[in-house]
Amino acid sequence: MERLDFNGFGGVNLAATAFGSADNPPVLLLPSLGQVRQLWFGTAAALAEAGRYAICVDLRGHGDSDQSPDGHYEFDAYIGDLRAILAAMPNRAVVVSAGIGARVAMAAVGEGAPHLVSGLALIDANIWVEKAVVDRLGGAMALRSSIFDDPTKIVDAVAAAYPSEPRPTLTDRMMAAYAKRDDGQYEWRGDPRVLAASNLPDMEERLTAAASRIAAPVTLIRGSLNETVSNEVMEKLKALIPGSEVAEIDGAGHYAASDREDDFNAILIDFLERQAPRAPLTFIAGSEPRILRDALGCFATGVTIVTTMNADNEPIGLTANSFTSVSLDPPLILFSLAKTSANLETFEKAGKFAVNVNHIGQQPAAGKFASRGVTRFDGVDWALREAGGSPILAGSLASFDCTTHAVHDGGDHLIFIGHVNYASFEPHRDPLLYFRGKFRRLHFA
Ligand SMILES: Cc1cc2nc3c(=O)[nH]c(=O)nc-3n(C[C@H](O)[C@H](O)[C@H](O)COP(=O)(O)O)c2cc1C
Repeated sequence: MERLDFNGFGGVNLAATAFGSADNPPVLLLPSLGQVRQLWFGTAAALAEAGRYAICVDLRGHGDSDQSPDGHYEFDAYIGDLRAILAAMPNRAVVVSAGIGARVAMAAVGEGAPHLVSGLALIDANIWVEKAVVDRLGGAMALRSSIFDDPTKIVDAVAAAYPSEPRPTLTDRMMAAYAKRDDGQYEWRGDPRVLAASNLPDMEERLTAAASRIAAPVTLIRGSLNETVSNEVMEKLKALIPGSEVAEIDGAGHYAASDREDDFNAILIDFLERQAPRAPLTFIAGSEPRILRDALGCFATGVTIVTTMNADNEPIGLTANSFTSVSLDPPLILFSLAKTSANLETFEKAGKFAVNVNHIGQQPAAGKFASRGVTRFDGVDWALREAGGSPILAGSLASFDCTTHAVHDGGDHLIFIGHVNYASFEPHRDPLLYFRGKFRRLHFA
């Protein structure tokens, strides 16, 4: 068991616990709204036994994850978090998610990034949520704002909200969502602002479109006694998601994954063995680009922050590991910039850029300069070496101040070749490295 952190949308830190070896194919377990990652620990341990790398993560504003400082709990913030986590995975993951987590996964994958996952297991996924169900789930969520003097009363309250479902079992994992206060009372550990924004209604059109575009293998799992997601909903969803399959857990309600954990694990592991087998992945030209990315990720690199000035004379920059030396005489270097970069035009117009090679202490900056929705230069010490130069980040391991020498087309990237006007380096620091999708540091035997 290893405690991990992910840098979510807008820089919100997301707490996670991983089970098993990081060399195994990853499975990401996402709770539903109101739940915490501990609910998945039993399944994660079983997955680790079955040769998977299982990662349980807390949603923003839940458990040990950060609260969003500006109250961003809208649907798209959760999607941004999921995409950020998946992008940071060493390999393509299967995502397992329940309830609203399942809606988030469907949207994240269906809306333009189907290659991000190698499979989806969705528990109690629903698109067509009726008003009565919305009210009911709203009521169940409101329980989270109640204070309880006894843990069994938490279970009583859940059981009362779902009267014809089996009574949930009181476990430490369930209680992980609650904190015991000094006065002995129990209260839900999350950000209360989460409760106001569950986005259940009004999403039919968006989720229908997203679900129909999912290209990964999908299993739709439901407890047979679930009161809020019917069999008809499952069949409708199955018809919508190409090649999806349905599985039912007999005698389970909406806590199926924890109440009938063994049954659930068996269904999940069977799905993984069939649809996301543990065989080594091979890229063949024209096939899945993520596999090529994973293969390329075996080449360890340093990490840089590439900068320039925009037309308003403000610094801009992004994290890049595509930096390469090209020529000593003339002094040339290159980096490649995705054509999707928000800064493409700025780099093209500026005619100059600087490459700042990161040392290990700059890992937070490297994370920040790869995130969207943050003010990247906030709190960063930078200066121009000369008027007309590009931003040099203080303390960088090395900095190369360049005039753009040439820009070449490179498929979905542009290759910027820079003529180095000025280079400096810091001989007493260790480099920040990047390998298999993770920041690393030098390890001397
Ligand atoms: C370690 C690492 C290396 C990266 N290397 C590159 C790169 O070489 N080129 C690139 O275009 N994006 C690269 N990225 C992704 C960008 O930093 C990221 O997409 C950023 O949000 C782009 O910002 P922009 O659209 O504001 O330019 C890298 C990200 C990380 C974490």
